[in-house]
Amino acid sequence: MKLNITETVLRDANQSLIATRLSFDQFENALELLDKAGYYSLECWGGATFDSCLRFLGEDPWERLRKIRKICKNTKLQMLLRGQNLLGYKHYPDDVVRAFVRKSVENGIDIIRVFDALNDLRNIEVAVDEALKAGAHVSGTLCYTTSPIHNLDMFVELGKKLEAMGCHSICVKDMAGIMTPKAAFELVSALKKNVSLPIVVHTHSTTGLGAMTLLKAVEAGADVIDCAISCFSGGTSQPPTESMYYTFSEMGYETGLNPEVLKQINDYFKPIQKEALASGLLNPIVMNTDTDALTYQVPGGMLSNLVSQLKAQNALDRLPEVLAEVPRVREDLGYPPLVTPSSQMVGVQAATNVLVGERYKNVSKEIKAYLHGEYGTAPGKVNEELRARVLEGVEPVTCRFADLLEPGLEKAKAEIGDLAKSEEDVLSYVAFPQVAEKFFNAREEKLRNTAKYSISAIEE
Ligand code: CO
Repeated sequence: MKLNITETVLRDANQSLIATRLSFDQFENALELLDKAGYYSLECWGGATFDSCLRFLGEDPWERLRKIRKICKNTKLQMLLRGQNLLGYKHYPDDVVRAFVRKSVENGIDIIRVFDALNDLRNIEVAVDEALKAGAHVSGTLCYTTSPIHNLDMFVELGKKLEAMGCHSICVKDMAGIMTPKAAFELVSALKKNVSLPIVVHTHSTTGLGAMTLLKAVEAGADVIDCAISCFSGGTSQPPTESMYYTFSEMGYETGLNPEVLKQINDYFKPIQKEALASGLLNPIVMNTDTDALTYQVPGGMLSNLVSQLKAQNALDRLPEVLAEVPRVREDLGYPPLVTPSSQMVGVQAATNVLVGERYKNVSKEIKAYLHGEYGTAPGKVNEELRARVLEGVEPVTCRFADLLEPGLEKAKAEIGDLAKSEEDVLSYVAFPQVAEKFFNAREEKLRNTAKYSISAIEE
């Protein structure tokens, strides 16, 4: 029996534990080891890494990808893509999505995991199509959630549609760590029965279920699981790579991993973890088990946002009311999975409803956009009375929202002008305009300084 293991230390573990602040310089010397370990793939790009490179680390994300590719010659490089949102938080026009996907593959990505927060597959079809054309392995993703309308049949239907779209594998993405071992067993079994693609399972250890969930998923036939090297595992991150390796090797699974190299990788990252703990970048709380997500059926990140929002308004005592309001708001919105950005939208609206003392007296512009159809179609029925009141006579969008967007690439090229040195730069600018422009300016400045120094050196 074969079991493939993906290592997430460079992306999801990095994002979940230390706010994606791992710089290339910090992990450069681990890349040879990571390439040698025998992983199925290295999740190393996409998600929040792109934004973080430009905004906080002063790194060109495309250059980071090329540098990883240069060292990791044997292991598949993997990225996470939010469908029509790419790596940002709004929908981009199709020409931008296509160019971004093409450039990602050109710069070294082998596997693209594509998802949409609402599981509205129209929002991933362009990215999937372009990734297939570019020759990447496309992992079509379903966002796992629980609600009165989400059931096995619904997920199996999504799986079949992903297969029909031409995806090469199906990823079950449990971003909140709420998928129980039994639910994972049933879901993977049902997918295995109804689609012929490999099944990838992604979960988080947040609620303490992660490792058990992976065990039952593999017993049900999952082909790939996501793990993080032990010193960057647990809590809001993934279950530990080494523990999973020992568990499944003993059970007779062939993972292809070399335990000695895994030990070396962990030894490499240990001082980085220690330093992050010392600086406060890594808050020990996120490494703990937090079962609140199971009690309240909201993801951990959403709960901590609610707490800080209420604290800021001196209303922490209203938390139980807000938590009771969350499922009602979610019902009104047709049960969106609680993942960025819907988790934030639902949380803020629930708190507003409680604090104002009248439901939907104030409605956030994000909820307006959602009810207008700008994020796609809700999984369930939206409260139509609420929608009509909020939209004030404006008809909701029923087509794919990106169909209404003008092409964006040429316009962006003209806007950014000489500051962009490549098509990759233009794409960085389209994705995060202000942040990218600031980054380009800083880069120019650096170049000018280097030039000055080299001239003075010649004159000496
Ligand atoms: Co994740």
